[in-house]
Amino acid sequence: MRVSIVGTGYVGLVTGACLAEVGHHVVCTDSDESKIQTLESGGLPIYEPGLDGVVARARKEGRLKFSRNPKEIVEAGDAIFICVGTPPLPNGDADLSAIDHVARTIATEARSPKLVIEKSTVPAQTGQELKRALTVYGRKSGISFSVASNPEFLREGTAVSDFLHPDRIVVGVENEASERQMKEIYAPVLERKFHCPVHAPACPEGPAPTWLVTTISSAELIKHASNSFLAMKISYANMVADLAERLGADIGEVVRAMGLDPRIGPAFLNAGLGFGGFCLPKDLQAFVHLAERSGVDFSMLKEAEKINHKRIGRFYEKIKNSLWVVKGKQIAVLGLAFKPNTDDVRFAPSIDLIEQLASEGAHIRAYDPEAMDRARAVLPNIDYAKSAYDAVKDAEALVIATEWDEFRKLDWDRVRNSMARPLILDARNLLSPRAMKAFGFEYQSFGRPD
Ligand code: UDX
Repeated sequence: MRVSIVGTGYVGLVTGACLAEVGHHVVCTDSDESKIQTLESGGLPIYEPGLDGVVARARKEGRLKFSRNPKEIVEAGDAIFICVGTPPLPNGDADLSAIDHVARTIATEARSPKLVIEKSTVPAQTGQELKRALTVYGRKSGISFSVASNPEFLREGTAVSDFLHPDRIVVGVENEASERQMKEIYAPVLERKFHCPVHAPACPEGPAPTWLVTTISSAELIKHASNSFLAMKISYANMVADLAERLGADIGEVVRAMGLDPRIGPAFLNAGLGFGGFCLPKDLQAFVHLAERSGVDFSMLKEAEKINHKRIGRFYEKIKNSLWVVKGKQIAVLGLAFKPNTDDVRFAPSIDLIEQLASEGAHIRAYDPEAMDRARAVLPNIDYAKSAYDAVKDAEALVIATEWDEFRKLDWDRVRNSMARPLILDARNLLSPRAMKAFGFEYQSFGRPD
């Protein structure tokens, strides 16, 4: 099928590249010309494991193209995925102006019927507004538009695998023709008929994805309800960790046992510095506002948000108690990305923590395997190290802010010998307290006995 993608953030790019990978003809555009320029010259504007290979192959085989011309994009696709950003407004609502702009372009440029698919995370009822905008702006052409909602559940760092091996594909549609079109788009994924770039030589056995057809409003609600639930799960684990710390219990042991109950499940129970990134915090906020506007008191979500905000303060207290005076101290921070395997630092707890430490007069030397270029734009006044070993040199404390695998495997004798004081503050419970003590470190983490 001929597919167009508007917006080449990680969702748009992964969707476009993977749809091309499974056999469709895809053209992508973005209002940010520099992104298209990067993509046309063979680069990628984001770091996402495995995506470079998928993009390169699909381009070479002629199924994936990039264009700066919105007219061409509208003409090229029978189905158009809207993957533009919906950042939070100052009042917490999602800013839908980019979606409105795309709707106007599609409505005025289309010369044949189009299925317009919301992929961006939007509040419930945006589909209705999108339909209205397409009808109003396109009234002179007489072209018919259908609208569908197809929420994404792609995690940064594993997005290619998540797209090709989803547990469920949710499509909110308004008619059977749209349902058929959506099924045609996803048929190769549902039937596993594609060359998998993630698993060689063969994909692991597993159940086929569940195909879920819903109303557009339900599909929109599913996305927000899922992400908000994940956020609540993390905040819950963080509160249990605080309690475990007071009671001398071990949060690792507690959540392991909890997660073995299939009603609870093991994922998203890791206590630490809290959740960040461009989805969970923003989706939670937008969901709270949606509930408020709809007259529903969803105060448990506000609590989850509040708990998350307090994580940085809680951790800062640990640093302060250990160092006594923060001002003038050399602190190594390992990890800047909001989670491992991405270069994304948007709403990363590490950034807020560093800002607080720097404002108290600490000297920060940070290292991240992928996110330093992006971090420099938001934290221009700290030092950046060439490696984890370079970061810890002469440091009086080592803070682990993101749980990159690389940090698990450091040569701890070498780290201890090069630090001014062998103190580790592990905000992600990445390391074993017992092992770190055996290496001669003072060690602190969340919710585990010292
Ligand atoms: C999320 C959703 O998981 C995905 O389905 C959606 O479509 C996009 O938003 P992502 O933003 O990539 O994906 O990150 P995710 O893996 O959900 O992690 C979010 C944050 O929660 C990270 O900061 C992570 O460090 C934190 N987290 C996650 C925890 O603190 N504890 C956990 O147990 C899990």
